[in-house]
Amino acid sequence: MTTTFTLNGKQVSVDADGNSPLLWVIRDTLDLKGTKFGCGKAACGACTIHVDGKAVRSCSYAVKFAAGKEVTTIEGLSTEENMHPVQQAWMEEIVPQCGYCQPGFMMATAAMLKEIPNPTDEDIDNNIVNVCRCATYYRMRKAIHRAAELQNATTK
Ligand code: FES
Ligand code: FES
Repeated sequence: MTTTFTLNGKQVSVDADGNSPLLWVIRDTLDLKGTKFGCGKAACGACTIHVDGKAVRSCSYAVKFAAGKEVTTIEGLSTEENMHPVQQAWMEEIVPQCGYCQPGFMMATAAMLKEIPNPTDEDIDNNIVNVCRCATYYRMRKAIHRAAELQNATTK
């Protein structure tokens, strides 16, 4: 079946089984490799993207459900003109180690900051439940607070 949706601001149509995970359509059909495969069971968060602004685990989200929606991947988080505060903060705090899990964490964080602009440590613990095998959690927590500061400075 053909499914049409907006990907990082551009309309795309893909011919794929409607039950295919959106992750594989993004990576293999649309050739955007920033979104990662980890567990395939909606448990680790490596595949996190946004669908209509909400964090979604794309390994467990059928492409048919994306029809008519706005899908954003890590490649679409920043614009040409402006780096997203989350990516800026991640660079400042030198968060990644191997880097594999990081796009998923950044997408989850960006979605959380829309709902909770000033997250406490408890908010972070409750909302950012992705898995990092390199255990970069301490630097990530610092970067999330820094991203909130950057975001709030640009929206004042
Ligand atoms: S690969 Fe999707 S949550 Fe782990
Ligand atoms: S930085 Fe290596 S898995 Fe998270």
